[in-house]
Formats: sequence, C-alpha cells, structure tokens
Amino acid sequence: MAAIFSRVVAPVAFLWLILPLAHADQTTKITTDQNPGAWEGWGVSLAWWANVFGERDDLADIFFTKKSTYWGPGNETLPGLGLNIVRYNAGACSSSTVNGSTISLSSQIPVSKQIAGYWLDGVNAHPQSSSWDWTVDANQRSMMLKAKSRGTNIFELFSNSPMWWQLNNHNPSGSASGGDNLPPSQYQNHAIYLSTIAKYAHDHWGVTFNSIEPFNEPAASWWKSTGTQEGCHFDASSQKALIPILHREMQIRGLAKTIISASDENSFSAALSSWNTITEEVEKTYVGRMNVHGYQGSSGPRYALQQAARNIGQGVWDSEYGDNDASGDTLLQNLMRDIQFLQPTAWVHWQAIDGPGWGLILGNLASKSLTSATHKYFELAHLTRHILPGMQIVNTTSTNVVSAVDEKTKTLAVIAANWNTTQTLTFDLSALSQIPADGTRVRSWITNRAGDKLYARADNITITEKSFSTVFETGTVMTFEVDGVTI
Ligand SMILES: *[C@@H]1O[C@H](CO)[C@@H](O)[C@H](O)[C@H]1NC(C)=O
Ligand SMILES: *[C@@H]1O[C@H](CO)[C@@H](O)[C@H](O)[C@H]1NC(C)=O
Ligand SMILES: *[C@@H]1O[C@H](CO)[C@@H](O)[C@H](O)[C@H]1NC(C)=O
Ligand SMILES: *[C@@H]1O[C@H](CO)[C@@H](O)[C@H](O)[C@H]1NC(C)=O
Ligand SMILES: *[C@@H]1O[C@H](CO)[C@@H](O)[C@H](O)[C@H]1NC(C)=O
Repeated sequence: MAAIFSRVVAPVAFLWLILPLAHADQTTKITTDQNPGAWEGWGVSLAWWANVFGERDDLADIFFTKKSTYWGPGNETLPGLGLNIVRYNAGACSSSTVNGSTISLSSQIPVSKQIAGYWLDGVNAHPQSSSWDWTVDANQRSMMLKAKSRGTNIFELFSNSPMWWQLNNHNPSGSASGGDNLPPSQYQNHAIYLSTIAKYAHDHWGVTFNSIEPFNEPAASWWKSTGTQEGCHFDASSQKALIPILHREMQIRGLAKTIISASDENSFSAALSSWNTITEEVEKTYVGRMNVHGYQGSSGPRYALQQAARNIGQGVWDSEYGDNDASGDTLLQNLMRDIQFLQPTAWVHWQAIDGPGWGLILGNLASKSLTSATHKYFELAHLTRHILPGMQIVNTTSTNVVSAVDEKTKTLAVIAANWNTTQTLTFDLSALSQIPADGTRVRSWITNRAGDKLYARADNITITEKSFSTVFETGTVMTFEVDGVTI
C-alpha cells in the first residue's frame, strides 16, 4: 500500500500544486471577418470642457494632433491622441426675456454646464435678425475651430436640450417629473434652431456638420427640473414625431451633406427599444445613422443593435462613452466589446477633461484648474493612434485583442491587453492572404500597470511562422504594427 501510495498519489499532489499556478498562454487568430464599413475615427464631445478651456492651444494639440507635447506639473510626454471627430453641443440657455419670461434654471446646474444658445427668442427665424446672437458660446466654438485647423474632419451637432423658451417649464434641465418637456407645438422651433446652426456654421465658420443629433439620452427618466446639467426627455413616440420635422427644416436650408443621427440613448437596451419604436419607415426615410451611448458597460444587446442598424443599411456610432475608472481598463474592456459586437465606425469619448475617474486629463471645470493625464489617457492612445480613419477592422478570436488593416499601406495594427496573470500572447496571422516573411519586424508600444511605461516604444519583435508573440505582465496594453499584410 505504501509503495502504491507514493507512486500514484505523489504525482497527483504534484499536479494539484502546479496547475493553478500554471497559465494557459493565449493564442489569438486575426480573422478575415470584417466589420461593416471603414473606420471613421475617434472623437470627443466639446461641452463642457471646451466651454471652460476652449482657448487653450496646448489642449487642442494634445487631443487633436499626434504630436508629442511636454505637459502638466510633471512635464511628462503626452502622445497626442489625434482625434478627428468633435461633437458640438447646441446650447439651451440665454439671459433673454421671452414674452415676459426668463429662463428657469435648476439651482443645481453649475455655470460651466449652462451652455449659451444662439436663438434668443422665437420672434424671428432668420439667422441675421436680432433674434439670434452668434457671438455666444465662444469657447466651445473656439475649440471646434482649433480642432478643425489640426485635422478634425467629422463634426456632429447635438442637443442636450432645446432652447429654454421652447420648453413647457422654461427649464433646460427637464420637467418636474422627468417626462416630455418640449410641447409638440415647439417641435418645429427645435428643428429650426438646430438646422439654422448647421447652416450658419457652414456659411460662416467653415464647419460642415456631418450629422445632427436632436436628442441626448431622450428615454431616460432622470432629466428633471432639479438636474445638474441640460437635459430633456422625449418618449420614443415623440422622437419619432420630431425626426421628420427636423429633416424638413434641414432640406429647406439645403443641408444635403448632413444626416440625422438618432437617438443617443444612454444604454444599448434603451437604444434598441427606441429604435424599434421609431420604426424602420421613419429611419429609412429620415435617419442616416444609429447613435448610442456606452454607459451600459459590459452588458446590453450590442450585437442586436448592430443588426438592427445593418438591416436598413445604416452604421452605428458609440457617440458617447465615459466611466469613472481612471486606470483605463474598464474603458478598454468596453471598447473592445464595442469593436467586436456593436461594430461602430466611430467612437466618441465624453469629457476630455473632468474630475477624478472620468477625465482623460484630470481637471476641475468649476475652478478652471488642470492637473495631469490619467492612465486612461495612455491606454486610449494605443487605439486612437493606430486604428486610423479608413482602416478596416477585422475580428479576432479573443475579446482582449482588436485589430485593423490599412488596405492602402498594407499595415496591420493589433492592440492587445492582458488582465490575467503574466502570460505569453501569440498572434496568429495565418488566416490573412498576404503575410510577411519570417524575420519581418513588428513595431510595438507598451503601457504597463505600474505606469513606468506609458505608451512607450518597446522592443521590436519579429514574425515567425506566420505569427508573433510576446510576454504580457498583468495589466499590460500593447500595440503592434506590421507591414506587408493584406486581408
Ligand atoms: C520638459 O521636458 C522637456 C524634455 O525633457 C524639456 O525639453 C523641457 O525643457 C521641459 N520643460 C520644462 C518647463 O521643464
Ligand atoms: C410669445 O407670444 C406670442 C404672442 O402671443 C406667441 O405668438 C409666441 O408663440 C410666444 N412665444 C413663445 C416662445 O412662447
Ligand atoms: C468575432 O469572433 C468571435 C470569436 O471567434 C466570435 O465569438 C464573434 O461572434 C465574432 N464576431 C462577429 C461579429 O462575427
Ligand atoms: C483570463 O482568465 C479567464 C479565466 O481563467 C479566461 O476565461 C480568459 O480567457 C483569460 N484571458 C486571457 C486574456 O488569457
Ligand atoms: C524598431 O524598428 C523600427 C523600424 O521599423 C526602428 O525605427 C526602431 O528603431 C526599432 N526599435 C527598436 C527598439 O529596435
């Protein structure tokens, strides 16, 4: 018994000790399955940070170019994010008097989130009349133009709330109950307001808005008169009624290059519900793209939403993403889910500058102070600097790896992260049609959890037998670029 015990049990005990420590190294296949549509780009919404910091050239360089900038109290090197999309918020506030009434502001809304609107009253729809003041909101506009001069080529006009005087209670944060606050009699004025801004921007600012989004999380129940920001609830049936009216006002103003996007719901679930209520007929006739926010995090019907849009030949944007994890890991995990399942053609971060957790750069809008870039900033840089407009996203067999090919330059970009224990990640290119020869260099960049490597150049590795590999410590994000690849 003793002899058998030692021969049989000892190896089992040995395995029991070793197996949990061993790790299965991961191999990821880069497939030829293409996401619908070419990549359009990466963006940021301008309200509210640009309302405060809109005159800053250094920030424009950091967000809208790929230059390296020495910046912040640590004078660290920030790799420019090279964003090429901005979302400009049509404000809802003014100090004008309309029919004896003035704006009814929530006591909770800070000045930095009261965005000045251009149409002071409903007296005259003509943009050159005294009903309009085109000098307001100078900071947000300033940042939009700085972005444009640095290469931003896609612009979206969006609305958090219609002008206050169009609303039932004159409060641009919402109704008392959180229900609809724009009476149907004012739908046309909301449509005139947005399409007139787009027309004026084209004629006077040199900005052609690619899309107008008339809603912001419209199905949500939290847009109330006591709110902390501008917001306005629209039942999905109200969204459906307003969209054709906006379309008509856009046609009247000759905005042929501008589509309507809808409806920027907060979650994938709410987006699917509103999309189904708006109906295919209205979407096919008047809407050009599905926009959705990414606040549902890891859950929600991403793929069903993609299919709903694709069914009628439309694309999807994740038009607003934010979370309060400054490490960037939550952002990266959700963004990778988006790329694999929602399959947007663009992805837009909410605030470039915000308080702890939320901002890419830490800052305080109320006190107009800036601190430093977050780890999240550097993790995002891996994507915005390497998945470029015009590239084709291809699917991979791992949820922690995304990939895109530039069919003109034949460059493959792979961005991968490891949130498990240290392991070797292998990237198998054998499914692709043109694969570089053994010994071909793979350029790489790395951000590690310790933060001593922040989007740093890493050693080049080489292609071996149609693949490449490298060791990833826990929390490491890496980008790889290899030339000579076609799908
Ligand atoms: C910031 O760092 C760069 C690179 O080390 C250096 O050239 C520059 O002088 C520094 N600026 C300040 C204000 O310290
Ligand atoms: C202001 O009053 C006039 C005259 O009653 C009316 O036609 C107009 O719609 C009112 N404007 C608003 C914004 O309610
Ligand atoms: C991408 O690949 C993964 C893993 O093979 C698969 O589960 C997923 O369905 C694919 N995505 C699409 C949209 O085909
Ligand atoms: C990490 O570990 C989990 C659970 O063990 C596993 O399902 C997953 O595939 C691993 N991910 C990677 C990137 O190795
Ligand atoms: C990696 O290769 C590039 C050319 O592809 C070269 O410019 C760079 O110096 C190399 N870096 C290292 C660390 O070997």
